[in-house]
Amino acid sequence: MALTIGIPRETFPGERRVATVPEIVEKLIKLGFEVSVETKAGDDANFSDQDYKAAGASVSRTAAALYKKSDIVLKVRAPAMEEVPLLKEGTVLISFVWPAQNPDLMTALAAQKVTVLAIDSLPRQLSRAQKMDALTSMAGIVGYRAVVEAANEFDRFFAGQITAAGKVPPAKVFIAGAGVAGLAAIGTAVGLGAIVRANDTRAEVADQVTSMGGEFVKVDYEEEGSGGGGYAKVMSEGFQAAQREMYAQQAKECDIIITTALIPGKPAPKLITADMVKSMKPGSVIVDLAAEQGGNCELTEPDKAVVKHGVTIIGYTDLPSRLSRQASTLYATNLLRVVEELSPQKDGTINVNMEDDAIRGLTVINLGDVTWPPPPLNLPAPKPATAPAAALPKKEEKKSSGIGMAIMAFVGAALVAFVGLYAPPAFIGHFTVFVLAVFVGYMVVWNVTPALHTPLMSVTNAISSIIAIGALIQIAPQVEIGTVRADALILGIAVIGIALTSINMFGGFAVTRRMLMMFRK
Ligand code: NAI
Repeated sequence: MALTIGIPRETFPGERRVATVPEIVEKLIKLGFEVSVETKAGDDANFSDQDYKAAGASVSRTAAALYKKSDIVLKVRAPAMEEVPLLKEGTVLISFVWPAQNPDLMTALAAQKVTVLAIDSLPRQLSRAQKMDALTSMAGIVGYRAVVEAANEFDRFFAGQITAAGKVPPAKVFIAGAGVAGLAAIGTAVGLGAIVRANDTRAEVADQVTSMGGEFVKVDYEEEGSGGGGYAKVMSEGFQAAQREMYAQQAKECDIIITTALIPGKPAPKLITADMVKSMKPGSVIVDLAAEQGGNCELTEPDKAVVKHGVTIIGYTDLPSRLSRQASTLYATNLLRVVEELSPQKDGTINVNMEDDAIRGLTVINLGDVTWPPPPLNLPAPKPATAPAAALPKKEEKKSSGIGMAIMAFVGAALVAFVGLYAPPAFIGHFTVFVLAVFVGYMVVWNVTPALHTPLMSVTNAISSIIAIGALIQIAPQVEIGTVRADALILGIAVIGIALTSINMFGGFAVTRRMLMMFRK
């Protein structure tokens, strides 16, 4: 018999997300389930009861009615204590739970004899788990929205501009902690045109920061910050002192600081001191994404935007809800993937398979038995940096390209010998210059970063115009021996030609300069 998936309305104050959206309801129904939504559940995310009905869901008039008919409950926030008794025995609840932070809730849920899959407990290291990773999708939204909130409070442009009214320098943004949210914030701030710098205690993050268009700022102290599973650890006193020194410098230089630093199961590290806030320029903005876990800035007040020492400090904890439609859609897709994993037969039933690593990690209560924390995952050891398997195809590639090069060299040499034997001596000189020019051109162009190919094209355009001028100057003396009329005509054409090519030439250089300016910060 087909099971019913129920979507209650979120009751947590300020929560605007909903656990599924009409588009996903259709997919759940295709998996064989029935779907019921509590009335107004999607209102705050701009999905009406009508939208859900059109997608095939029924609408329950009260939370009690919804929980009564639901075999599986999809929620965003962990249930409030008063919601727990509404869950009937045997129900499977899938939502954020944070078992470590909510021991009382865990006890209450276990006593209710339900099964609980905590989306926050997903083993994120498994590549199969990525599609279910709601922490990542929500962190992406939070990082984006943090920049939008900062831009809203900031009293200048992000991008540098040269206008008739004067030169505007680009805003400088510093991101503390470059995890998922930090990287999303870097991408957004770079997109708005700011100069973005970032720091993280995990060394592997440096390349990710650069690939997002930011600059990684290192702490002048050797210590690896990885605490395993992609998360950070608490750093030594020595490191923290060196980090404070660097952050103090960044606070003086930067206009906006976005902090995202978290360590699982620990209060957020205090990275921005009151003195650093004091040293910032008036009108600067701090967005503290760790506000809920105690804040990375000493002066943050959770859920509020406050102005201290002329700096706006934003401690909002509802950033995903500020993009409720987007956040709900991504979250609903993550939960759909969980349901798909639970229902491989696609027949409207589920199997909480505790042998499956991803499901085992997610399941924190199994029919009333607390199964959290899960046993450590049996992951294969990371491959050594120089894996022999990886080296093999590379070698073959080299070999084949070596043969190709040899053939090309042979053909080239034969061609030169043929030309040398039969062509006039003047041609040989020109031909040699041509071959060398092609070779030098090839070497130069191939070493240029693809991003710079457009300015390179405009500069070669300008250079080719110089060649055209040279050609005209070459032609002019040869026709001088003709009649005066022909001489004047050729001269006239040459002048027009030179005028036109100089537009191309100077224009090419001007365009190149402007384009290169775009890459300079
Ligand atoms: P998070 O929200 O726990 O922490 C945010 C960032 O703050 C982390 O990058 C952390 O290193 C940094 N941080 C902690 N203490 C700091 C300090 N004192 N100073 C500066 N930075 C500090 O982390 P999030 O965003 O949930 O993910 C962290 C990492 O987990 C990701 O970057 C990724 O490498 C890994 N991950 C792996 C996945 C996978 O393997 N499939 C999926 C998702 C995340």
